[in-house]
Amino acid sequence: MPVVDVHTHMYPPVYMDLLRSRQQIPYVRSFPDDPAAGDRLVILPAEDTASTSRGRPIGSEYYDVNEKLSFMSKHNIDISVLSLANPWLDWLPPDSAAETARKVNDDVERMCSEHEGKLFAFGTLPLSAPADEIVAEIDRLVTLPHHRGIVMGTSGLGSGLDDPELDPLYASLEKHEQMIFLHPHYGMPTSVYGPRANDYGHVLPLALGFPLETTVAVTRMLLSGVWDRFPNLKVLLAHSGGTLPFLAGRIESCIAHDAHLKKEGKLRARRDVWDILKKNIYLDAVIYSEVGLKAAIDASGADRLMFGTDHPFFPPLDEGEDEWLSVKSNSAAVHTASSGDSKMASAVMGDNAVRVLRLHS
Ligand code: URA
Ligand code: ZN
Repeated sequence: MPVVDVHTHMYPPVYMDLLRSRQQIPYVRSFPDDPAAGDRLVILPAEDTASTSRGRPIGSEYYDVNEKLSFMSKHNIDISVLSLANPWLDWLPPDSAAETARKVNDDVERMCSEHEGKLFAFGTLPLSAPADEIVAEIDRLVTLPHHRGIVMGTSGLGSGLDDPELDPLYASLEKHEQMIFLHPHYGMPTSVYGPRANDYGHVLPLALGFPLETTVAVTRMLLSGVWDRFPNLKVLLAHSGGTLPFLAGRIESCIAHDAHLKKEGKLRARRDVWDILKKNIYLDAVIYSEVGLKAAIDASGADRLMFGTDHPFFPPLDEGEDEWLSVKSNSAAVHTASSGDSKMASAVMGDNAVRVLRLHS
C-alpha cells in the first residue's frame, strides 16, 4: 500500500530567488551580518510589522528537494504531490506572470523527474496574466509528465472563484481532466479576530481564517453555478474542505429558503451541495482529528478523501523531534476514523490519490 501526500508544499529555487529579490510582500528577509539569525518569510500583511520577529523562519525545508525526500522517508511517505506554497503567483505583474509561471513549473517538473515515481506536482497558473496566456499554461502543463492539475488560491483573477471571467480556465481544466487544488491564503479581515488577536500567535487566522476562507470561496463557486456549467470540473479542497462538510446542510437549507434566488429562477434545475460533494469535490485529510475526518467521509465519501501533511508548515516546536506531530495526528485520525476497516485506511492513505491523480508508475 503506497502512502501518498497530496498536500505538501515547496518554494522551488526559482521562486526563492524571486522572494529574495523583493522588499514587499511576499518576500524573504536575510541578515547577511548575522547569518545565525536565519532567513524570514513574510507573506501575510499581519506579518509585515516593524517588530523584530517580522515574518516566520524559513529554512531549506521550503526549497531543498532533499529535505522533502528525507521528511518523506522519516514518515514512510512513498509519493508526494508537490504544490507551490501560498501566495503562489497571484501578486506578479501581468506582463511577466506567464514567463515566471513557466519557469516555476519547469523547476518543479525537473525536481520530479530527478526522483521518478516519488514526486508529482500541481502546477501554478499565472493568474494575473491575460486569460489566453493562462489557458496556454494549462495546455502546456498537460504535457509535463509529472504534473497532475493546478494549485489555486481563493482570489482567482482578483475577484474570487465565482468570477465568470474564470470560465475559459474552468473549461480548459475540465476538458483536460485537470484537478484544481484549492488552498487558502488570504484568510479573513484581521478585525474579525478582535483587539487581542496578537496575543494568540497565528492560531485564529490559521485554525479559523484559512478554513472559513476556503468555505466562502467554494460556496460562492456553488452559488454562481460553476458546477452546473462545468459538471465534470474536479476540485480538491484543502484542510478537508474548511468547514464545508459540517456546514453543507445549513448552506443547502439557506439556499432552499432564499427568496431572492427563487425570484431570479436560480432554484430551478440546480445541483445541490451534496451532489457536488460526491461528484466534483475531493477532500484532503488535513484536519487532525477523527471528528473532522468523519464529517469529510460522510459528506464526500471515503473514496474521495486523500492523506496530506501540509509540510513544511507546522514543524515541531522543539528541536530533536524527528517525527512531526502534524503528520502523526493526521495519520492517527485516518486510522481511527476507518475504525478497523483497513481497506478504507489504505484508500485514504494512498490508494485514492494513486487512482484519482493517476500516479501509477
Ligand atoms: N501557513 C501557510 O501560510 N500556508 C500553509 O499552507 C499552512 C500554514
Ligand atoms: Zn497548505
